Amino acid sequence: MWSLFSGRSEDTYRLWRLSSFHITEVARPSMDAVEQHDAFFNSFNLVRGPCLGSGAVGEVVLASAKHNSSLKVAVKIVTFETEGCKGDFLSEVGFLRDLRHPRILEMIAFAMDDHHGFMLSTYFKNGTLRDTMSSDHPVEEPRILRHILDVASALRYIHGLHIFHQDVKPRNILLDDQDRAVLADFGIARQASDSSAMVMKWRTTPGYSGPETRKRRPMSPFK
Ligand SMILES: Nc1ncnc2c1ncn2[C@@H]1O[C@H](COP(=O)(O)OP(=O)(O)OP(=O)(O)O)[C@@H](O)[C@H]1O
Ligand SMILES: [Mg+2]
Repeated sequence: MWSLFSGRSEDTYRLWRLSSFHITEVARPSMDAVEQHDAFFNSFNLVRGPCLGSGAVGEVVLASAKHNSSLKVAVKIVTFETEGCKGDFLSEVGFLRDLRHPRILEMIAFAMDDHHGFMLSTYFKNGTLRDTMSSDHPVEEPRILRHILDVASALRYIHGLHIFHQDVKPRNILLDDQDRAVLADFGIARQASDSSAMVMKWRTTPGYSGPETRKRRPMSPFK
């Protein structure tokens, strides 16, 4: 059976139910991966759309409601190749279920079976900050400053809860309809016991970590 969990916001969940995304349970089929994905999309009455992006352990695809193609969501599909992948998925949905901040990605629901995790979130048609950076036009300074302030506000919020993201980079920053930045991808985020906790081992994306994370000595993720 698919295990189904609602997202953090009751209102969003209600809207989701009202919006013809009828959620039913289906038996987990013993088929290959692609067919298992199909079973998931069918069970959520979703039509699978194009790939929006991919990462180390899966991909994010666009999906629309079967009965109303204008209702769209992003679906992150993680293949549990190792226990670590499953742990990261559970950790990400655990954070996103509880976090409530306008500059942090809103999870709508998630589902999983033994081999895959599926996370449904708001779809951002403008893509990521990385997509903007790769366009021909340079990003103007006021716009950059606004994005920095947006991400800083998301980080201040999670740091207050002793959560550190570890993977802040343009590919993990989505842009909404008002060109405001929204922090996503909590796959390697972790929570410390308190604000004075020190971290020795960091998981980061090469090229985006501070030089201090390579010094191999305990450091605060919050200072
Ligand atoms: N809600 C969304 N709306 C639109 N595009 C999205 C959304 N979520 C993710 N994407 C796209 O999918 C890409 C991968 O998403 P995400 O970072 O969550 O996955 P990941 O597998 O953890 O990636 P990585 O390992 O590269 O960090 C993003 O960089 C972005 O291009
Ligand atoms: Mg990412």
